[in-house]
Amino acid sequence: MKNIDAIINRIEVLKPISPVVNRLMEIVGNPGSSTRDLVELVECDSALTANLLRLCNSTYYGLTVHVNSVHHALTLLGMNRLVELILLRSTGENLLRAQKGYGLKPGELWKHSVASARLARSFAEKNNRGFDVFLIYTACLLKDIGKVVIEENVGRSLAKIRHLVRKKEYSFDQAEEAVLGIDHARLGGLIAERWHFSPKMAFLIRNHHLTDPSTRSDVESGIIYLADTVSRMVLAGIGADNLAYKVYEEIFLNLNVSAPDLVDLTSAFQVHLHLADRLLHSMQS
Ligand SMILES: [Fe+2]
Repeated sequence: MKNIDAIINRIEVLKPISPVVNRLMEIVGNPGSSTRDLVELVECDSALTANLLRLCNSTYYGLTVHVNSVHHALTLLGMNRLVELILLRSTGENLLRAQKGYGLKPGELWKHSVASARLARSFAEKNNRGFDVFLIYTACLLKDIGKVVIEENVGRSLAKIRHLVRKKEYSFDQAEEAVLGIDHARLGGLIAERWHFSPKMAFLIRNHHLTDPSTRSDVESGIIYLADTVSRMVLAGIGADNLAYKVYEEIFLNLNVSAPDLVDLTSAFQVHLHLADRLLHSMQS
């Protein structure tokens, strides 16, 4: 129990989430909101505005005109890309660090998270069933935030965790829980609650590996699981836990994803990963 408390207390190592993100989620989740609400939200934060404009004018977007206001950025980039930039600026720092316990270098978890989130968003948009695509994108972006907190504990106990994975057929998150008392997904759910995200967001982060059978009928969770599984097939930014998660075939059936679709999703993920790499260079230059 003491071990769990010590791990949970380490949530303090995270850079606190900006209140902008909570307000952003309210705006994009409310059909009554206008683009003006979004522009005003960003303009209230001068550092965020400056960062956004700098990035909009970077070579990553290749715009031929100079972007000089948030409204201008919204017109040129569209809602999806502007919301993504706000989220990446407001949440990125935590995910950019090296996660040594998982064998991840600086930026690797960030790129994996961004590419997975983009894949999940595009899948949700193409399979239009009234999904909240911003919720799916954000939950997928932050699904492994618990790793940032627990990585040192995982690193110290990696041999025990791997033993359970290899000899007892535990998934990596089950082995984390067995050895440390809590796994990175459940910890991520606690972080989402502490950051005052919606109950649905906390649910999606907590259950992104679908280890609890009762969560496997939730379609949004299935989409995040799909994106995470595809990223695992590409072996990108995954680290020490690589393929040590269960594959639930019923999720692919539920989402109408065939074997050829999976190949296409893998290719799409690689494109998203390449673009995330370029975006990271633009953010750091
Ligand atoms: Fe995970």
